[in-house]
Amino acid sequence: MKSFDAINSLKNITLKIDGDFIENASGGFLTFKNKHGKGNAKAFKLFSGLEVLSFNLLTSEAIYIENIFKNKNCLHFIFCIEGFLSHYSNLDKEKKNIHRLQNVIIGNNKNKSSCIVIPANTKVKFTIITVLHVNNEPRYQSQLSNLLSNLMTNVSNTENYTYFGEISNRTTPFVETIIDTNLSGLANRLLNEAAVLKTLSSQYSSRGNNIKSVENKNPLSKTDTLEIIKLSDYISQNLHETIPLKKLTSISGLNQKKIQKGFQYFFDETVNKFTTNLRILKAKEYLEETDYSISEIVYKIGLNSRSYFSKIFKEKYGLIPKDYKKFHHLSNPTFQLSYYSEAAEGTTKKDLISILEASKKNNLEYGISGCLIYYKASFYQILEGPKNEILNLIEVIKKDSRNKNLNIIFQGMKSGRIFGEWNMALIQDDFASIEANRELDIIPVEFLPMTDIKNPLANKYLWEKARNYLIVNQEVDK
Ligand SMILES: Cc1cc2nc3c(=O)[nH]c(=O)nc-3n(C[C@H](O)[C@H](O)[C@H](O)COP(=O)(O)O)c2cc1C
Repeated sequence: MKSFDAINSLKNITLKIDGDFIENASGGFLTFKNKHGKGNAKAFKLFSGLEVLSFNLLTSEAIYIENIFKNKNCLHFIFCIEGFLSHYSNLDKEKKNIHRLQNVIIGNNKNKSSCIVIPANTKVKFTIITVLHVNNEPRYQSQLSNLLSNLMTNVSNTENYTYFGEISNRTTPFVETIIDTNLSGLANRLLNEAAVLKTLSSQYSSRGNNIKSVENKNPLSKTDTLEIIKLSDYISQNLHETIPLKKLTSISGLNQKKIQKGFQYFFDETVNKFTTNLRILKAKEYLEETDYSISEIVYKIGLNSRSYFSKIFKEKYGLIPKDYKKFHHLSNPTFQLSYYSEAAEGTTKKDLISILEASKKNNLEYGISGCLIYYKASFYQILEGPKNEILNLIEVIKKDSRNKNLNIIFQGMKSGRIFGEWNMALIQDDFASIEANRELDIIPVEFLPMTDIKNPLANKYLWEKARNYLIVNQEVDK
């Protein structure tokens, strides 16, 4: 069974409504304004074991969300704060509504598959917070995963839909924050992170678990709130500096007490702790996406002690930075190379199949994933994986007489794989007689915008589209 993945789930929805999808280090974003309606949605992984989807949309036809609920190892907390949703399962076919301000948990009964329906012509705002079983993730044992375990233990007996009644007054603003705040910038990401945790804790703290309770209502006026948000942004832009509280008061015009209250309310932390959290988050980004040494990272995030950095990083992510980097790069060997070349005259479908078969076999061995397109007598290929293996392979391909004039479109490090599940897939158009063959991951090319494939930027978009198409084809197949 594939593990739950909020970003991929949102990609599937994007395909259904023909929307635009952007993915970056913060998460995935869907926007659309077309015959299907308009709106936006986002998906992000807050932490190993906690993924979030949020929606703010109005569609002209009903949308069915079911893939999300296929994985049995998670609980889904659904908070609807505008409009309504309905749901049904194979066990109780009757459709029931989830009203505005009603909070529902979808549990993990083995025999049940669930579906949420977004009704047509109704503006809806809702979020789905998915908590995965975290017991198998010892490397991430930390305060946060303890919180999740608590939650799981408290509700894991949930077999069917469970109604936890109304979303409490104090939870609603946190859900609003999740839905309305974008994920650009570190401060917004922390705001989202805090809002997700507060949504869970404020809703369930009364149910006898150990989650910290939260303050009831925003202690600040609207203008003061804005100042707090601006301050959080300022801190995130100036992480290399130590910013005394006094400076924050002079920038914002708020007194120290108000600043602390505001940070406590929005981020559940003191200003100091908030800054530390931002630093750790930034450091994590550096570890994942750059080759900076640990000392360089410590300097860049404004700390001066390596051992202190290691300590606080470990508290949050369960690993010291050096091990985190090693682990991340081991599990995400993300060198990427794409190229195009001319196919040799007289290329036959037999040639394509034999290239594909050799690729699948060898690439599996070398940890390479990717996709090959054969289109109008040219090859376009993307290869992802360990750098040395890919550079060796490209030399082999250059010498392969089945193609010539190979031109690299892009090569460099990427933060994740696009085709992680495919050692090689083939997309082709010329040989209509090669049936779309799911065994070999062969699919037709007609849906791809091939015109500017040689442009590196458009190229990235094209490969993502190709991957989405493969995912959908696979799911249809199941
Ligand atoms: C356009 C094109 C793309 C290819 N892509 C791959 C690939 O991704 N992986 C691979 O192992 N071989 C690929 N090949 C085949 C290699 O050139 C070579 O024939 C193959 O790696 C030899 O495998 P073998 O030693 O197992 O017979 C490709 C060939 C062409 C013409």
